Amino acid sequence: MAFYTTQGTIPKKRHTQMRQANGQLYTEELFGREGFSGRQSLLYHITPPTKVEAVRDLGPVVREFTVGGPLLHRHLQTMKVETKEKDAVEGRTMLLGNADVAFGVAVVTEPMTYFYRSAEGDELLFVHTGSGVVETIFGHLDYHAGDYIILPVGTTYRVVPTVGEETRLVVIEAQGAITAPKHYVNDAGQMMEHAPYCERDLRLPRLETHDERGDFEVRVRARKHVTSYSLSYHPFDVVGWDGALYPYIFNIDDFEPITGRIHQPPPVHQTFAGPNFVICSFVPRKLDYHPLSIPVPYHHSNIESDEVIYYVDGQFMSRKGIEVGSVTVHPGGIAHGPQPGVVEKSLGATETAELAVMMDTFHPLGLSAAACSVEDPHYMYSWR
Ligand SMILES: [Fe+2]
Repeated sequence: MAFYTTQGTIPKKRHTQMRQANGQLYTEELFGREGFSGRQSLLYHITPPTKVEAVRDLGPVVREFTVGGPLLHRHLQTMKVETKEKDAVEGRTMLLGNADVAFGVAVVTEPMTYFYRSAEGDELLFVHTGSGVVETIFGHLDYHAGDYIILPVGTTYRVVPTVGEETRLVVIEAQGAITAPKHYVNDAGQMMEHAPYCERDLRLPRLETHDERGDFEVRVRARKHVTSYSLSYHPFDVVGWDGALYPYIFNIDDFEPITGRIHQPPPVHQTFAGPNFVICSFVPRKLDYHPLSIPVPYHHSNIESDEVIYYVDGQFMSRKGIEVGSVTVHPGGIAHGPQPGVVEKSLGATETAELAVMMDTFHPLGLSAAACSVEDPHYMYSWR
């Protein structure tokens, strides 16, 4: 959904000369998707971004998910994930994934001592708790609880949590672009009137130019591998940029819920779309107002999708035994719905305080060993 914007100093005409105080030319870099045809931005560097002192192979990115085993509804207790003092990349524990997307959590206690980018696809970091700054080549983004941080493929960044504060993230690594849902965007690329949020709700980076010299490491994830590049200049040496491809933040509290007289289906909660998956936001809202309405969801068989919900805050009316930080996985092929007693109990309720993030995938998800280690084995039988 990113729209055209510009920051810092850029030449009046693209692809023309712009000189530094010392007489040297700035280096223009096209940062674009789909060759030269997709969304793009133009960045102006003090030092050519091709200048590298040394290259090191840091080995493969391990993202192993097993699809086999009996088909079960699962409850993963992510608060039990083993954590060490880690940064926003090293601290990831990926739980679920397929060829399109991987889903996990990260507990961030340390700033990254290096810069990082994924050349495999967009990353979405949802901030459950904590605050800090995501420093990017486009500028800084201050983050706090409830933020969806969208980092387009190729964006060099560094996450710096506030000192003494732990940041708890939900991490979604896509193999492609994460965008606004198509049905909320008009032909001109603008968010439409019936969309639950619009451009005004997005927070853009504030450009900060670094001209320091020294030893800077940039790690690049590509082709399931990480390569380390040593630079003699700070990688955030951009003095200006313009275009429609850049990182941004949307806070879940700015999602305006769509409500109705009878139960509204999950698509009204859709917030983003990725390759063969969607992201939805369940936010505090008024409940259905038909005199005979049933406020909790009807039972459903999402036959051709797997449904993953991360519970952020509030009461989760339709689920028993679910805590803050829980993840439920309801796979395609078997029905799910409210547990016994929940429907009757919900009747007459006028509002819900639930806050949750959902990812529905259109291809089956596998589980990692880490997911299995924090699984509540009783969940499958919680409908008895
Ligand atoms: Fe569901």
